[in-house]
Amino acid sequence: MFKKGNLYFPTEKFRKSALANDKKIYQEAAKDPIKFWEKLAQQLFWFEKWEKAFVHKPPYFQWFQGGKINITSNIFEKNTLGFNKIKNKTALIWEPEPTNEKPRILTYDELFKEVNKFANALKKLGVKKGDRVGIYLPMIPEVMISMLACARIGAVHVVVFSAFSPSALRIRLQDTGAKILITTDGYYRRDKVINLKQNADDGVKGTKVKKVVVVKRAGNKIPWQKDRNLWYHELIKKQSDQCDPEVMDSEDLLFVLYTSGSTGTPKGTTHACGGYTVQAYWTGKWIFDLHKDSILWCTSDPGWVTGHTYTVYSPLLNGVTTLMFEGAPNWPTPDRWAQIIEKHKATIFYTAPTAIRMFEKLGTDLVRKHKFETLRLLGSVGEPIDEAAWKWYFKEVGKERCPLVDTWWQTETGGILITSLPGIGPFKPGFTGLPFPGVKVQIKQENLLILPPFAPGLLRGIYKNPKKYLETYWSQYGKKVYFTSDAAYKDKNGLIRIVGRVDDVIKVAGHRLTTGELEAAINLHPDITECAVIGIPDKIKGEVPVAFVVLKGKKPELKVKEELLALVRKQIGPIAKPKEIYIVKELPKTRSGKIMRRILRKLFTGKELGDLSTLANPESVEAIRKIIKK
Ligand code: PRX
Repeated sequence: MFKKGNLYFPTEKFRKSALANDKKIYQEAAKDPIKFWEKLAQQLFWFEKWEKAFVHKPPYFQWFQGGKINITSNIFEKNTLGFNKIKNKTALIWEPEPTNEKPRILTYDELFKEVNKFANALKKLGVKKGDRVGIYLPMIPEVMISMLACARIGAVHVVVFSAFSPSALRIRLQDTGAKILITTDGYYRRDKVINLKQNADDGVKGTKVKKVVVVKRAGNKIPWQKDRNLWYHELIKKQSDQCDPEVMDSEDLLFVLYTSGSTGTPKGTTHACGGYTVQAYWTGKWIFDLHKDSILWCTSDPGWVTGHTYTVYSPLLNGVTTLMFEGAPNWPTPDRWAQIIEKHKATIFYTAPTAIRMFEKLGTDLVRKHKFETLRLLGSVGEPIDEAAWKWYFKEVGKERCPLVDTWWQTETGGILITSLPGIGPFKPGFTGLPFPGVKVQIKQENLLILPPFAPGLLRGIYKNPKKYLETYWSQYGKKVYFTSDAAYKDKNGLIRIVGRVDDVIKVAGHRLTTGELEAAINLHPDITECAVIGIPDKIKGEVPVAFVVLKGKKPELKVKEELLALVRKQIGPIAKPKEIYIVKELPKTRSGKIMRRILRKLFTGKELGDLSTLANPESVEAIRKIIKK
């Protein structure tokens, strides 16, 4: 990369070899975005071509209406590179956490057979097209195999992040009515075996789950219910390694993935087969510049959308190698992540700013020991990357050689929508860049909006909740404009900077949570009168939650705090644990009784508190300030 003013550009050499390197694609796409997406879609395999590319009945829309497709056919037997060419190539490199264990390598052919075997096993369990299947697995190959097996037979996968609690799992299983759950005995995290089966057993209580398929990973002792439990390895033993793909309508559901919205309950975003396939394929190809020999390491767990699209579907659709790591990036040594890049010769590294800041904190000297000679591109995702972190990442990991794509998107969008393209640029620290060709955005009163025809991968609804779909995305600016809930602005080059969420979503180490869901969890405690949760800035995690609670009863404060931490862990998971719980006498409120979270936040950011006279209890603010100081 070279620098011109405050902008960076790819070198001539990089530009020449890049798959997207001509600015004209932006103009071509802008002229007729529907035609543009159609042209892209044509390069994939369809059993039958669509009749109409884009159909809009606000707030609903469809892409490639009437088209028939299966995403796994596009990965395997009908891969655009030709299955014979990729058959013996590595599809997945899996690096286990224990360093004395060998990586597991699966070629495209081997992965295909594994997928087919498990697809046949699912069929035997009675799973049919349209049925929802819960997947509660950590980062082991079977998470990918399970997702693909579902897609192969037209079942809808519902992946639940393995660090979510049994209650969080239960809500998702109940909402989707899943009858099958796939989980594991245990997995390694910082040398410890996490007993996931135990959580799964708790989570299926009160759901329709009839069978729990258990992958043997850690060999730990687990509870076993004979009538309900099945070992994965036994189930697939006798299955054929061939399975015909289910012919899916372009608009059939591919998956439901839950995410935090502006109220306590999570929303199941629904994604359609055709549009998602097209977007996953093309965004990966152009943004990560996926050549035949690319090895992409996207560090995201498939329990989050980043992992769905860029650990699983996008690299495989492009016939390249994807890398998956079971454990924590700084375990057992702070530079484990760097060792993995070198060991497996990753060419693309895609991670979150939180991780980047953590790597920096763990020691630049240590990072400098690694040359990262195979890397040719870096990516960032999930939260705004500040200029300092951008520059450190670019210099110390990318060695000022690799283009750095900051990619903006959401669970709802299915794939990346805003970023600079590596073969075109320009790149500007702190700015994500331009909308992907074919995507129209608008910024109105600082709000980031997406205009028709949106993007083929954008969500089609919230599972069984049309009201919430309409309210959340299609109300603020009318039914024809998608409201992202992000604030943003443009610089004079048209590059977009994402400021952050305008609702109560907070990003804790890149994980999406809402203050509302934390409050709902805390309010379950019998000794709490009321509470307010806010996100405050944190040097490593970006944001962390802190809670203010008003107590009733006489329980010792320390005890209550402990119980609250346990409660949040139980209701949501360890990632949601508040950094601090402040016990206060009262919360600042308006005269109409609204809790002023904005003021609480200002107590941490050092911003002027402004006029407090509209509060019913202005004196509460000073009292809280004293408690925080203590
Ligand atoms: O606020 C934006 C932030 O993450 C939100 C979406 O979170 P989630 O659905 O968990 O998906 C994250 C991974 C795709 C967005 O509304 N966000 C995501 N990427 C960026 C970002 N904020 C700034 N810069 C980004 N590159």
